[in-house]
Amino acid sequence: MVMDYTHAIRMVDVEKNFGNVRALKDINLEVGRNEIIGLLGDNGAGKSTLIKIMTGVFPPSAGEIYIRDRKITLKDYNVKKAHKWGIETVYQDKSLGEKQVLWRNFFVGRQITNVLGFIDVRKEKEIARRIMMDMIGFRGVGITVDSRVSKLSGGERQGIAIGRAMHFDADLIILDEPTVALSLKEVRKVIAFVHKIRQSGRACVYISHNIGDVYEVADRFIILDRGEIVGSMQKDRLLLKELDEYLLEYAHGKTDGKDV
Ligand SMILES: Nc1ncnc2c1ncn2[C@@H]1O[C@H](COP(=O)(O)OP(=O)(O)O)[C@@H](O)[C@H]1O
Ligand SMILES: [Mg+2]
Repeated sequence: MVMDYTHAIRMVDVEKNFGNVRALKDINLEVGRNEIIGLLGDNGAGKSTLIKIMTGVFPPSAGEIYIRDRKITLKDYNVKKAHKWGIETVYQDKSLGEKQVLWRNFFVGRQITNVLGFIDVRKEKEIARRIMMDMIGFRGVGITVDSRVSKLSGGERQGIAIGRAMHFDADLIILDEPTVALSLKEVRKVIAFVHKIRQSGRACVYISHNIGDVYEVADRFIILDRGEIVGSMQKDRLLLKELDEYLLEYAHGKTDGKDV
């Protein structure tokens, strides 16, 4: 991890248009080095679009992005550069090949090879085992590095993907709706993984349209409504109930206080 910076990422006056659709407007936000942000907003608010810009999936239509306090050149920013600069994202299902065994899955696209150019199976297995134990806390429960990904529960899969992102030295891990379709018990697991992200000194942007599962673990909430940031609140000054009420106002179509 690189340590000499203040913000994992900062966006200045970012906009995104898809044809005539203005998906994002006037986006100004920053994520601190060891900050856990809960990014909230209704369906269609622009949450996924925002993180796709952060992770180099596509460029903004306007604005500036700073990674670890350094301004990046947007025209050659992409997913690979995002990885290189410590930004990782965990996609819902696609990130984990179902039929693969776990240790192979850890190293997709980033194989460790020996001097002869062959994949170093022993080393990869050992690293995978260590990630499972140290970072994710898998113990026993019949799952080993040789188990198939399909044997894991949804929450465990999130854990593996998060562990992988941490192993590859990400400073900022972005989770887009990681608890969709998970049971309550599984949601707890994902929350526990996010606690680990914080303990390890990293930052996280946790996207959700459900505040219940992000409230506990976030330091700050950023609320998106129809492409604009309409709130940024520190958690220590906010009750869950207050946040809930605030979000409901937007869900009911409030616009600058003029509508009912
Ligand atoms: N690739 C795209 N092409 C056209 N419109 C898009 C595209 N991606 C998102 N949008 C539009 O941008 C808006 C925000 O979408 P999205 O970022 O997916 O919201 P959220 O993740 O908050 O549900 C929506 O109106 C959506 O239809
Ligand atoms: Mg989305």
